[in-house]
Amino acid sequence: PQSVAEKIDYVFKVVVIGDSAVGKTQILARFTKNDFCFDSKSTIGVEFQTRTLTINSKVIKAQIWDTAGQERYRAVTSAYYRGALGAMLVYDITKRQSFDHVARWVEELRAHADNSIVIMLIGNKADLVDLRAVPTEDAVEFAENQGLFFSETSALNGDNVESAFFKLLEGIY
Ligand code: GTP
Repeated sequence: PQSVAEKIDYVFKVVVIGDSAVGKTQILARFTKNDFCFDSKSTIGVEFQTRTLTINSKVIKAQIWDTAGQERYRAVTSAYYRGALGAMLVYDITKRQSFDHVARWVEELRAHADNSIVIMLIGNKADLVDLRAVPTEDAVEFAENQGLFFSETSALNGDNVESAFFKLLEGIY
């Protein structure tokens, strides 16, 4: 429970986007609850979770929005992106197609989100080393060209999830 004495300096809205099944919901569960679910269901509609943390001695409440990657469930557009200061754009390192679609997701962000939105490209499922289909260098190059932060994560074992969110939130701050 949040103590009444806790003073929140800023609320930062962050959206998580990317193709279906890349691990958006599990990245969020790892960051906000330190939890992971193997039989994660596809997200329907929109959900959000929060986590309060301290950056540069300011108390920041991160309000992180998750939506379905599947087109048919996406009631998304302007309302989802409205007020978002950051975006986690997730692909699956074992699914080349999810990386090939990243450019489209960037276009959607450029069309609907604020121009100053900070974007973190995330290659998730980094634990599946033997199934890798997207070389790290390809993503590094894309991120550099587009001016995005980049990290590879594993929601399963937790690798880099926390640091990716902190980097994004510091980028906003
Ligand atoms: P939509 O809601 O359909 O857009 O999917 P999503 O992007 O939210 O994917 P979700 O978090 O539901 O994860 C999809 C599947 O991938 C689930 O079976 C997860 O258990 C699995 N998964 C998610 N993250 C990881 C990871 O880091 N490593 C491994 N090995 N599996 C993962």
